[in-house]
Amino acid sequence: MKTKTSSESSFKFVYAADLQPGTPRSFRYRAAWRENWLTARQQIIDAQPEFMVIGGDLTRDGFYHDFEFEEMKMSLDAMNIPWHVIPGNMDVGNKRSDIHGAIPSRDDSLLNISSERLSAFERFFGPSNWTFTHGNLRISGFCDMLLGSGLPEEKKLRKFLTDLALLPPVEHHFVLTHYALFIQDPEEADYDITVKEQYFDWYFTVNKADRKFLLDCFKKAGVTRVQTAHIHCRREVVYDNIVFDFAPSTTFGQYGDKWPDGDNTPGFYLFKINGKQVFKDFIPTAPLSSNEDAFGQGGHVTRDHIDYSESKAYLKKLFS
Ligand SMILES: [Fe+2]
Repeated sequence: MKTKTSSESSFKFVYAADLQPGTPRSFRYRAAWRENWLTARQQIIDAQPEFMVIGGDLTRDGFYHDFEFEEMKMSLDAMNIPWHVIPGNMDVGNKRSDIHGAIPSRDDSLLNISSERLSAFERFFGPSNWTFTHGNLRISGFCDMLLGSGLPEEKKLRKFLTDLALLPPVEHHFVLTHYALFIQDPEEADYDITVKEQYFDWYFTVNKADRKFLLDCFKKAGVTRVQTAHIHCRREVVYDNIVFDFAPSTTFGQYGDKWPDGDNTPGFYLFKINGKQVFKDFIPTAPLSSNEDAFGQGGHVTRDHIDYSESKAYLKKLFS
Protein backbone atom coordinates (compact mmCIF):
# COMPACT_ATOMS: atom_id res chain seq x y z
CA MET A 1 0.00 0.00 0.00
CA LYS A 2 1.58 3.30 -1.05
CA THR A 3 1.25 6.74 0.51
CA LYS A 4 -0.16 9.63 -1.45
CA THR A 5 2.06 12.61 -2.19
CA SER A 6 1.15 15.26 0.35
CA SER A 7 1.74 18.98 0.59
CA GLU A 8 1.05 18.94 4.34
CA SER A 9 3.74 20.33 6.65
CA SER A 10 2.28 18.80 9.84
CA PHE A 11 1.67 15.07 10.09
CA LYS A 12 2.60 11.97 12.05
CA PHE A 13 3.89 8.55 11.11
CA VAL A 14 5.03 5.41 12.88
CA TYR A 15 8.42 3.75 12.68
CA ALA A 16 8.41 0.16 13.93
CA ALA A 17 10.98 -2.63 13.65
CA ASP A 18 11.78 -6.21 14.54
CA LEU A 19 8.17 -7.36 14.74
CA GLN A 20 9.15 -11.02 14.22
CA PRO A 21 6.09 -12.55 15.87
CA GLY A 22 6.78 -16.06 14.63
CA THR A 23 4.11 -18.70 14.22
CA PRO A 24 3.38 -22.09 15.79
CA ARG A 25 3.62 -23.51 12.25
CA SER A 26 7.37 -22.95 12.47
CA PHE A 27 10.07 -25.14 14.02
CA ARG A 28 10.18 -22.70 16.94
CA TYR A 29 7.71 -20.41 18.62
CA ARG A 30 7.19 -18.02 21.51
CA ALA A 31 3.56 -17.12 22.09
CA ALA A 32 4.46 -13.92 23.99
CA TRP A 33 6.25 -12.46 20.95
CA ARG A 34 3.25 -13.06 18.74
CA GLU A 35 0.91 -11.51 21.31
CA ASN A 36 3.21 -8.51 21.78
CA TRP A 37 3.15 -7.80 18.04
CA LEU A 38 -0.66 -7.94 18.07
CA THR A 39 -0.72 -5.51 21.02
CA ALA A 40 1.69 -3.08 19.32
CA ARG A 41 -0.26 -3.45 16.09
CA GLN A 42 -3.45 -2.25 17.80
CA GLN A 43 -1.55 0.63 19.45
CA ILE A 44 -0.28 1.72 16.02
CA ILE A 45 -3.83 1.63 14.63
CA ASP A 46 -5.05 3.67 17.63
CA ALA A 47 -2.31 6.27 17.06
CA GLN A 48 -3.84 6.98 13.61
CA PRO A 49 -0.59 7.72 11.75
CA GLU A 50 -0.75 8.82 8.13
CA PHE A 51 1.60 5.98 7.23
CA MET A 52 4.08 3.58 8.80
CA VAL A 53 7.56 2.44 7.91
CA ILE A 54 9.06 -0.80 9.17
CA GLY A 55 12.79 -1.39 9.59
CA GLY A 56 13.00 -5.11 8.86
CA ASP A 57 12.61 -8.45 10.60
CA LEU A 58 8.91 -8.63 9.85
CA THR A 59 9.14 -12.36 10.43
CA ARG A 60 10.96 -14.65 12.80
CA ASP A 61 11.88 -17.15 10.10
CA GLY A 62 10.91 -15.74 6.72
CA PHE A 63 14.40 -16.91 5.72
CA TYR A 64 12.85 -20.40 5.69
CA HIS A 65 9.10 -19.90 5.17
CA ASP A 66 7.08 -17.97 2.58
CA PHE A 67 4.01 -18.49 4.76
CA GLU A 68 5.45 -16.09 7.36
CA PHE A 69 5.69 -13.37 4.66
CA GLU A 70 2.14 -14.11 3.56
CA GLU A 71 0.75 -13.86 7.08
CA MET A 72 2.61 -10.63 7.91
CA LYS A 73 1.48 -8.97 4.70
CA MET A 74 -2.11 -9.83 5.62
CA SER A 75 -1.51 -8.47 9.13
CA LEU A 76 -0.17 -5.17 7.73
CA ASP A 77 -2.79 -4.77 5.00
CA ALA A 78 -5.63 -5.27 7.48
CA MET A 79 -4.38 -2.27 9.52
CA ASN A 80 -5.56 0.06 6.73
CA ILE A 81 -2.47 2.24 7.17
CA PRO A 82 -0.19 2.82 4.17
CA TRP A 83 3.10 0.98 4.80
CA HIS A 84 6.64 0.77 3.44
CA VAL A 85 9.00 -1.94 4.64
CA ILE A 86 12.61 -3.03 4.28
CA PRO A 87 13.79 -6.60 4.85
CA GLY A 88 15.77 -7.68 7.91
CA ASN A 89 18.18 -10.55 8.31
CA MET A 90 15.52 -12.86 9.78
CA ASP A 91 13.57 -12.29 6.54
CA VAL A 92 16.26 -12.70 3.88
CA GLY A 93 19.55 -13.69 5.58
CA ASN A 94 22.50 -12.09 7.34
CA LYS A 95 25.20 -9.83 5.96
CA ARG A 96 27.77 -11.98 4.20
CA SER A 97 30.44 -14.00 5.90
CA ASP A 98 32.62 -16.57 4.17
CA ILE A 99 33.80 -18.07 7.44
CA HIS A 100 32.40 -19.69 10.55
CA GLY A 101 32.37 -17.18 13.41
CA ALA A 102 32.96 -17.56 17.14
CA ILE A 103 29.51 -18.95 18.02
CA PRO A 104 29.79 -22.77 17.66
CA SER A 105 26.05 -23.30 17.06
CA ARG A 106 26.02 -20.94 14.04
CA ASP A 107 27.50 -21.72 10.67
CA ASP A 108 27.56 -18.10 9.53
CA SER A 109 28.37 -18.82 5.89
CA LEU A 110 25.07 -20.76 5.60
CA LEU A 111 23.07 -17.83 6.99
CA ASN A 112 24.09 -15.31 4.31
CA ILE A 113 21.53 -13.26 2.41
CA SER A 114 20.47 -14.97 -0.80
CA SER A 115 18.88 -13.74 -4.03
CA GLU A 116 16.23 -16.43 -3.61
CA ARG A 117 15.05 -15.19 -0.20
CA LEU A 118 15.24 -11.50 -1.18
CA SER A 119 13.16 -12.29 -4.25
CA ALA A 120 10.61 -14.14 -2.09
CA PHE A 121 10.37 -11.14 0.26
CA GLU A 122 9.88 -8.77 -2.68
CA ARG A 123 7.10 -10.94 -4.13
CA PHE A 124 5.08 -10.14 -1.02
CA PHE A 125 6.25 -6.65 -0.04
CA GLY A 126 7.45 -5.05 -3.28
CA PRO A 127 10.93 -3.73 -4.18
CA SER A 128 13.31 -3.57 -1.21
CA ASN A 129 14.81 -0.25 -2.40
CA TRP A 130 12.37 2.64 -2.32
CA THR A 131 12.09 6.37 -1.72
CA PHE A 132 9.06 8.61 -1.42
CA THR A 133 8.09 12.05 -0.16
CA HIS A 134 5.28 13.06 2.17
CA GLY A 135 5.00 16.82 2.60
CA ASN A 136 8.49 18.13 3.42
CA LEU A 137 9.81 14.67 4.35
CA ARG A 138 11.58 12.12 2.17
CA ILE A 139 12.00 8.58 3.45
CA SER A 140 14.30 6.10 1.73
CA GLY A 141 14.63 2.41 2.55
CA PHE A 142 16.81 -0.38 1.21
CA CYS A 143 18.25 -3.80 1.98
CA ASP A 144 21.60 -3.03 3.62
CA MET A 145 22.54 -6.73 3.98
CA LEU A 146 23.24 -6.66 0.22
CA LEU A 147 26.31 -4.49 0.80
CA GLY A 148 29.36 -6.73 0.59
CA SER A 149 27.23 -9.69 -0.50
CA GLY A 150 28.54 -9.88 -4.06
CA LEU A 151 25.01 -10.73 -5.19
CA PRO A 152 23.78 -9.21 -8.49
CA GLU A 153 21.31 -7.04 -6.55
CA GLU A 154 24.18 -5.23 -4.77
CA LYS A 155 25.15 -3.30 -7.90
CA LYS A 156 21.59 -2.07 -8.33
CA LEU A 157 21.47 -1.02 -4.67
CA ARG A 158 24.71 0.97 -4.93
CA LYS A 159 23.32 2.88 -7.92
CA PHE A 160 20.07 3.53 -6.02
CA LEU A 161 22.03 4.95 -3.08
CA THR A 162 24.31 7.07 -5.26
CA ASP A 163 21.33 8.44 -7.19
CA LEU A 164 19.58 9.65 -4.03
CA ALA A 165 21.76 12.77 -4.37
CA LEU A 166 20.03 13.57 -7.69
CA LEU A 167 16.57 13.90 -6.13
CA PRO A 168 15.06 17.31 -5.36
CA PRO A 169 16.10 18.58 -1.90
CA VAL A 170 13.58 18.42 0.97
CA GLU A 171 13.46 19.69 4.55
CA HIS A 172 13.91 16.26 6.15
CA HIS A 173 15.39 13.09 4.68
CA PHE A 174 15.12 9.90 6.78
CA VAL A 175 16.71 6.61 5.73
CA LEU A 176 16.07 3.12 7.07
CA THR A 177 18.67 0.40 7.41
CA HIS A 178 18.18 -2.88 9.26
CA TYR A 179 21.71 -3.28 10.67
CA ALA A 180 23.05 -0.49 12.86
CA LEU A 181 25.81 1.47 11.18
CA PHE A 182 28.03 1.30 14.28
CA ILE A 183 28.18 0.31 17.94
CA GLN A 184 30.01 3.31 19.42
CA ASP A 185 30.76 5.76 16.60
CA PRO A 186 30.89 5.87 12.79
CA GLU A 187 34.70 5.91 12.74
CA GLU A 188 35.12 2.60 14.57
CA ALA A 189 37.05 -0.32 13.03
CA ASP A 190 35.47 -3.55 11.82
CA TYR A 191 34.68 -6.18 14.43
CA ASP A 192 36.16 -9.68 14.15
CA ILE A 193 33.58 -12.43 13.68
CA THR A 194 36.06 -15.04 14.97
CA VAL A 195 36.55 -13.33 18.35
CA LYS A 196 33.84 -14.30 20.81
CA GLU A 197 33.77 -10.90 22.56
CA GLN A 198 33.34 -9.15 19.18
CA TYR A 199 30.95 -11.56 17.50
CA PHE A 200 27.70 -9.74 18.27
CA ASP A 201 29.18 -6.32 17.49
CA TRP A 202 30.11 -7.80 14.10
CA TYR A 203 26.63 -9.28 13.79
CA PHE A 204 24.84 -6.02 14.61
CA THR A 205 26.75 -3.57 12.41
CA VAL A 206 27.54 -2.65 8.83
CA ASN A 207 31.21 -3.27 7.91
CA LYS A 208 33.40 -0.17 7.84
CA ALA A 209 33.93 0.08 4.07
CA ASP A 210 30.19 -0.21 3.45
CA ARG A 211 29.41 2.19 6.32
CA LYS A 212 31.78 4.74 4.75
CA PHE A 213 30.02 4.34 1.39
CA LEU A 214 26.61 4.77 3.05
CA LEU A 215 27.61 7.86 5.03
CA ASP A 216 29.04 9.43 1.90
CA CYS A 217 25.79 8.76 0.00
CA PHE A 218 23.75 10.06 2.93
CA LYS A 219 25.70 13.34 3.14
CA LYS A 220 25.33 13.93 -0.59
CA ALA A 221 21.60 13.15 -0.42
CA GLY A 222 20.98 15.56 2.49
CA VAL A 223 20.00 12.79 4.92
CA THR A 224 19.01 14.18 8.31
CA ARG A 225 18.07 11.02 10.20
CA VAL A 226 19.14 7.34 10.01
CA GLN A 227 16.85 4.77 11.60
CA THR A 228 18.41 1.41 12.38
CA ALA A 229 16.97 -1.77 13.85
CA HIS A 230 18.27 -5.31 14.59
CA ILE A 231 19.66 -4.71 18.11
CA HIS A 232 16.28 -4.26 19.89
CA CYS A 233 17.69 -1.55 22.17
CA ARG A 234 16.80 2.08 21.63
CA ARG A 235 19.07 5.06 21.91
CA GLU A 236 19.90 8.21 19.95
CA VAL A 237 23.28 9.36 18.68
CA VAL A 238 24.06 12.57 16.77
CA TYR A 239 27.09 12.56 14.50
CA ASP A 240 28.06 15.07 11.82
CA ASN A 241 24.58 16.70 11.95
CA ILE A 242 22.80 13.39 11.33
CA VAL A 243 20.59 11.84 14.03
CA PHE A 244 20.96 8.07 14.38
CA ASP A 245 17.91 6.43 15.95
CA PHE A 246 18.64 2.96 17.26
CA ALA A 247 15.19 1.39 17.32
CA PRO A 248 13.35 -0.74 19.83
CA SER A 249 11.69 -4.00 18.79
CA THR A 250 7.90 -3.98 19.07
CA THR A 251 8.10 -7.49 20.46
CA PHE A 252 11.09 -8.22 22.72
CA GLY A 253 14.14 -6.37 24.02
CA GLN A 254 17.84 -7.27 23.94
CA TYR A 255 21.12 -5.73 25.13
CA GLY A 256 19.58 -3.33 27.65
CA ASP A 257 22.90 -3.14 29.46
CA LYS A 258 25.07 -2.57 26.38
CA TRP A 259 25.10 1.24 26.60
CA PRO A 260 24.51 3.54 29.60
CA ASP A 261 21.83 5.33 27.58
CA GLY A 262 20.29 2.16 26.06
CA ASP A 263 16.74 1.02 26.82
CA ASN A 264 15.46 -2.32 25.52
CA THR A 265 11.78 -1.82 26.45
CA PRO A 266 9.68 -3.11 23.52
CA GLY A 267 7.71 -0.52 21.58
CA PHE A 268 7.81 1.75 18.54
CA TYR A 269 8.43 5.39 17.58
CA LEU A 270 5.69 7.88 16.72
CA PHE A 271 7.17 10.76 14.73
CA LYS A 272 5.46 14.12 14.32
CA ILE A 273 6.69 16.50 11.66
CA ASN A 274 5.71 20.13 12.01
CA GLY A 275 7.49 22.24 9.42
CA LYS A 276 11.18 22.27 10.34
CA GLN A 277 10.55 20.49 13.64
CA VAL A 278 10.74 16.73 14.28
CA PHE A 279 9.23 15.24 17.45
CA LYS A 280 9.89 11.62 18.38
CA ASP A 281 7.78 9.78 20.96
CA PHE A 282 8.58 6.28 22.15
CA ILE A 283 5.38 4.25 22.66
CA PRO A 284 6.01 1.14 24.78
CA THR A 285 4.17 -2.04 23.81
CA ALA A 286 1.67 -2.46 26.64
CA PRO A 287 0.61 -4.60 28.27
CA LEU A 288 3.40 -7.07 27.51
CA SER A 289 2.31 -10.69 27.24
CA SER A 290 3.14 -13.13 30.04
CA ASN A 291 2.24 -16.20 27.94
CA GLU A 292 5.06 -18.69 28.48
CA ASP A 293 4.16 -21.13 25.68
CA ALA A 294 7.33 -21.73 23.70
CA PHE A 295 9.29 -24.39 21.82
CA GLY A 296 12.39 -24.69 19.66
CA GLN A 297 15.85 -23.15 19.60
CA GLY A 298 16.50 -19.38 19.71
CA GLY A 299 19.08 -17.39 17.78
CA HIS A 300 20.06 -18.75 14.38
CA VAL A 301 19.79 -22.36 13.32
CA THR A 302 20.86 -24.01 10.10
CA ARG A 303 18.61 -26.14 7.93
CA ASP A 304 20.02 -29.44 9.13
CA HIS A 305 18.93 -28.58 12.70
CA ILE A 306 15.36 -27.72 11.78
CA ASP A 307 12.71 -30.05 13.14
CA TYR A 308 8.94 -29.46 12.94
CA SER A 309 7.90 -32.22 15.34
CA GLU A 310 7.34 -29.80 18.25
CA SER A 311 5.21 -27.59 16.00
CA LYS A 312 3.03 -30.52 15.01
CA ALA A 313 2.59 -31.55 18.66
CA TYR A 314 1.79 -27.97 19.73
CA LEU A 315 -0.78 -27.44 16.97
CA LYS A 316 -2.34 -30.83 17.68
CA LYS A 317 -2.76 -29.86 21.34
CA LEU A 318 -4.02 -26.38 20.42
CA PHE A 319 -6.74 -27.73 18.17
CA SER A 320 -7.73 -30.80 20.19
FE1 LIG B 1 17.65 -8.48 12.76
